Amino acid sequence: MTNHPLVKEVLVDRNKIDSKIKELAHNISNYYKSIQYKNNTVITVGLLKGCVPFMAGLLKDLEFNCITEYMIVSSYEGNTTNIQKPKIINDIKINVEGAHVLLIEDIIDSGITLSFIKEHILGLGAKEVKVVTLASKPNKIIVDLKPDWNGFEFGDEFLIGFGLDYQERLRNLPFIATCNVEKLTDWEW
Ligand code: IMP
Ligand code: MG
Repeated sequence: MTNHPLVKEVLVDRNKIDSKIKELAHNISNYYKSIQYKNNTVITVGLLKGCVPFMAGLLKDLEFNCITEYMIVSSYEGNTTNIQKPKIINDIKINVEGAHVLLIEDIIDSGITLSFIKEHILGLGAKEVKVVTLASKPNKIIVDLKPDWNGFEFGDEFLIGFGLDYQERLRNLPFIATCNVEKLTDWEW
């Protein structure tokens, strides 16, 4: 899908996202080439569903052995504001004891979801948990967490596209855009 009435302004287009993903994959690969880790294998954990377009791009350019795992964590109740504590709906299915783990997420807003998951995975015995995010909203972070690698920084606006949803839709837009929030009050799909 290339356009939609809820798109207000395209902030980052497909080409820019693709080259940013390549750059992130390159930096991440350099890091894992420079250290040693269990079974010479990194466990990548994508947070569904928002990670999908980002992770699909990223994986193809990671130059190390990885096992791909996924988690479903809910924090938004289909709304545009984050109100509750994250809840694990689907946990990873693999033993991470002593392993190096890379969390892959679409965006950091308050940071609550990722810091909760990071603690959870460290609690399962992982030796190290790194975080890569396609996007972040640095002035909205309220926890002590900084992504180890981040693609784009934004302000406070609610964003859609490239994995980011409004009411589970619009993840399939091939760009990151601001949402026409004025239209949401009486919006019908
Ligand atoms: P946090 O726990 O507040 O950092 O929220 C992170 C989660 O909220 C992300 O995984 C996203 O799925 C979702 N989220 C945060 N900001 C946005 C946005 O602007 N648009 C869509 N989803 C968002
Ligand atoms: Mg998400």
